[in-house]
Amino acid sequence: MKERIVLAYSGGLDTSVAIGWIADATGAEVVAVAVDVGQGGEDMETIRQRALGCGAVEAYVADARDEFADEYCMPTLKANGLYQGHYPLVSAISRPVIVKHLVKAAREFGATTVAHGCTGKGNDQVRFEVGIQTLGPDLKCIAPVRDLALTRDKAIAYAEEKRLPIVTTKKNPYSIDQNVWGRAVETGYLEDIWNAPTKDIYDYTQTPEFPPAPDEVTISFKEGVPTAVDGAEMSPLQVIQELNRRAGAQGVGRIDVVEDRLVGIKSREIYEAPGAMALITAHKHLEDVTIEREHARFKATVSQRWSELVYDGQWFSPLKRALDVFIDDSQKHVSGDIRMVLHGGQAVVNGRRSDSSLYDFNLATYDTGDTFDQSSAKGFIDLWGMSSKVASSRDQRVAGE
Ligand code: ARG
Repeated sequence: MKERIVLAYSGGLDTSVAIGWIADATGAEVVAVAVDVGQGGEDMETIRQRALGCGAVEAYVADARDEFADEYCMPTLKANGLYQGHYPLVSAISRPVIVKHLVKAAREFGATTVAHGCTGKGNDQVRFEVGIQTLGPDLKCIAPVRDLALTRDKAIAYAEEKRLPIVTTKKNPYSIDQNVWGRAVETGYLEDIWNAPTKDIYDYTQTPEFPPAPDEVTISFKEGVPTAVDGAEMSPLQVIQELNRRAGAQGVGRIDVVEDRLVGIKSREIYEAPGAMALITAHKHLEDVTIEREHARFKATVSQRWSELVYDGQWFSPLKRALDVFIDDSQKHVSGDIRMVLHGGQAVVNGRRSDSSLYDFNLATYDTGDTFDQSSAKGFIDLWGMSSKVASSRDQRVAGE
């Protein structure tokens, strides 16, 4: 029996050509697996048929939209996951769910190897292969673009020569990865980091310069997870989709950064993540009301480390899982409503309410009803400043000697 290789298939030129390219180079049969993480665009059945048309012996589509929203986007929201403080980990969190389905398909179809379409310069190759190694230690990995010299020019020539059922003429200069949590655009004209992104780069967001009327939205959370928008109950996937639409219309969630890749390269990235950024903003504001100060401060450092691990392809690692336990525990009281105005590229919170609030009006107020004993502040400040004061007088004494 021939060896079998499972290929992560997107339906695009590179992975369509990869089917035959891998078969030619290795003599193996190729099983194409397409995973729906809410990337939109073409119908998944069309993509499946194309894989078969390009020579896959089996083609399989996994609808992972709810799984991705529930088990990958929601943990990212609970963590307020932003790599380098900016990037909501759009591609980084989709790789582990795709890996899960690739490994599952490898088992089902009796494959020994998993293939993906990444280059040798990015983070995604690391995320795929570390994930595959972790979930299927016996599986081998192969990346035709990196390991079998499948360049773009060769891909176009191959597709034309073999008459593959794929359009090769449309020249898109950008490398785009998208899912329901957001969209990442790189390369081409953007590689000059002084060049501003042009309008055609964006798809999830409208230009914020000429916004429609402000859109006020109330998001309800239960233990860190959004459960309703304007009182209408929704699944996590539906909440993200609804906010992609409404925050996207206002140009919320456009991000333009130079980012540190795991492989040591700095790269220019354009992201748009309207739903994710609106949700993270709302969630963070609800945490401000419901999480105790020291707990919140420590969670911010946990969140940063969590984001780095996820960015670096360590989704299935013991440390990441341990931090998940901390983060989940921190969400016990993160329930309530956040009201925010989406307008002109911004999501600005203007109201919050929670049955588990730590905000105490009687402690906070400067009006009548104040229950805070101001006389205790003086002694507190004396002790709080004591060690600095002692050190400072030592410094002055030593300087004077
Ligand atoms: N730089 C981002 C990351 O490493 C996005 C990569 C997206 N991939 C792409 N082909 N555009 O997570």
